[in-house]
Amino acid sequence: MQDIDLRQYIRGIPDFPKPGILFYDISTLLRNADAWQLATARMAHAVSPWQPDQLAAIESRGFLTAAPLSTRLGCGLIMLRKPGKLPGDTISLTYALEYGSDSLHIQADAILPGQRVVVTDDLLATGGTLAASVALLRKAGAEVVGASVLVELTSLGGREKLDIPVHALLSYD
Ligand code: PRP
Ligand code: MG
Repeated sequence: MQDIDLRQYIRGIPDFPKPGILFYDISTLLRNADAWQLATARMAHAVSPWQPDQLAAIESRGFLTAAPLSTRLGCGLIMLRKPGKLPGDTISLTYALEYGSDSLHIQADAILPGQRVVVTDDLLATGGTLAASVALLRKAGAEVVGASVLVELTSLGGREKLDIPVHALLSYD
C-alpha cells in the first residue's frame, strides 16, 4: 500500500448536490480499511511536525478526520459545532455563505491560553468554513499552527483565505 495513489478510492459524482457540481465522494475511501488506514497515517505524518496540543474538528465531516488524527498524534480533540449543540458557555462566530450565513461554536474553556491547535476538515473548497474556524479558535485563545484536509479543490482558491500552512492529502483542480 505504501506507494499507492489514494485518489483511486475517491469517486466523482456528477450533478450532486446540484446540476453542474462534481461531488468528490470520500465514502469509498472511508469504507476501504487499508486505504483509510493509509490516508490517516499520511495525514498524521504531515501534521506531526506542527506539534499540536489539540486537533480542532469542524462539524460534521471534519469529525471523521479529527478522531483518527488525534489518536495517531496523541493529542486532544476539540469540537467546533453548529448552533445549539454544545453545553455550557460557548464562543461563536458567524460567517457568510453563498446564500445566507452560518455559525460555529466552541466551548469557552476548550483551549488553554496559547495552546497549539491544528484544525481539520474533510474538504477545503472556497475556504469559508476553515477561515471561520481559524478565526473562532483565535477568539478562544488558540495559536492555530496549521490546517489539515483530506481533499482540496484548488481551483476555488480557498487556501488563499488562510494565513496558516495547509496540508491537503489529495488535490483536484
Ligand atoms: C462541507 C465540507 C467542509 C465545507 C467546505 O461541509 O465538509 O466543511 O463544506 O466548504 P468551503 O471550503 O467552501 O467552506 P458542509 O457545510 O456541507 O457540512 P457537513 O460537513 O456537515 O456535511
Ligand atoms: Mg463540513
